[in-house]
Amino acid sequence: MLLGLLYGCVGGGVALYSLYRWIIPALVQYHGGASLIWHDEIVPWVLDTLTGSTRPERILAAVQRKATKGDARSVVNTIDQYCRYQEWAMNVGDEKGAILDSIVCEVKPSVMLELGTYCGYSTVRIASMLPPNARLLTLEFNPAYAAVARQVIAWAGVEDKVVLIEGPSGDWIPKMKEEFGVTSFDLVFLDHWKDRYLPDTKLMEECGLLRTGSILLADNVICPGTPEYLEYVRGSPRYESKYFRSHLEYTRVEDGLEKSVFLG
Ligand SMILES: C[S@@+](CC[C@H](N)C(=O)[O-])C[C@H]1O[C@@H](n2cnc3c(N)ncnc32)[C@H](O)[C@@H]1O
Repeated sequence: MLLGLLYGCVGGGVALYSLYRWIIPALVQYHGGASLIWHDEIVPWVLDTLTGSTRPERILAAVQRKATKGDARSVVNTIDQYCRYQEWAMNVGDEKGAILDSIVCEVKPSVMLELGTYCGYSTVRIASMLPPNARLLTLEFNPAYAAVARQVIAWAGVEDKVVLIEGPSGDWIPKMKEEFGVTSFDLVFLDHWKDRYLPDTKLMEECGLLRTGSILLADNVICPGTPEYLEYVRGSPRYESKYFRSHLEYTRVEDGLEKSVFLG
């Protein structure tokens, strides 16, 4: 009787753990909505409750444990390993990150803007590819995320190329010229909340921050998706736009980057 109860408890525990660790993650690999609810709502809530820490804090701890100080690639690889095998996070990720790298290499921006820093994963990735004397301004409105990002950026040794600005994009975009001496951006990486892509693009146009040839690179245009933004850049005669097909970070769900050249 007692043995039966013990077997029942152990079996139940193993079944629950397998469900959490392997079965549900495998099932949601191909479904965007389910993937985001599981990875971005349920798992962080469980882990935050159990560990008393936040996901950005756990990512920072992984960097401090495993990444080589001063080695940006090691920081990027450590975060990818952690987020692929331990805990998903909303970084651009390794697969779309390779497309981002190739566009940064091709454009060789002198002044670049990133909208949405989170833990600094893409910031480090971009900064490590920038030519000498180039500057990356990155905007984050969540102070807790910004605090983690500062430490990740410093650990990677790229802080001399990065200006991390805390606050909402809608407030800071109009102040870019006077506060940071920006004439225009060569490349803008849009990776903040999806409903801000279109208003912030129009705001950058109004503020004269885009010149002929400036490039907008937008993440997550399929998942979670940015339909109004896509309709705008694909339909407007002011842009020449191209889609780069890929997957939502660390999953098999379709997602991609939209590269749009501003024609003036
Ligand atoms: C998808 S994450 C950025 C991921 C990051 N680019 C990477 O690949 O590592 C989006 C981030 O944008 C921030 N954010 C969202 N809307 C914003 C806004 N209007 N202004 C500033 N930050 C914003 C969020 O707090 C979040 O940290």
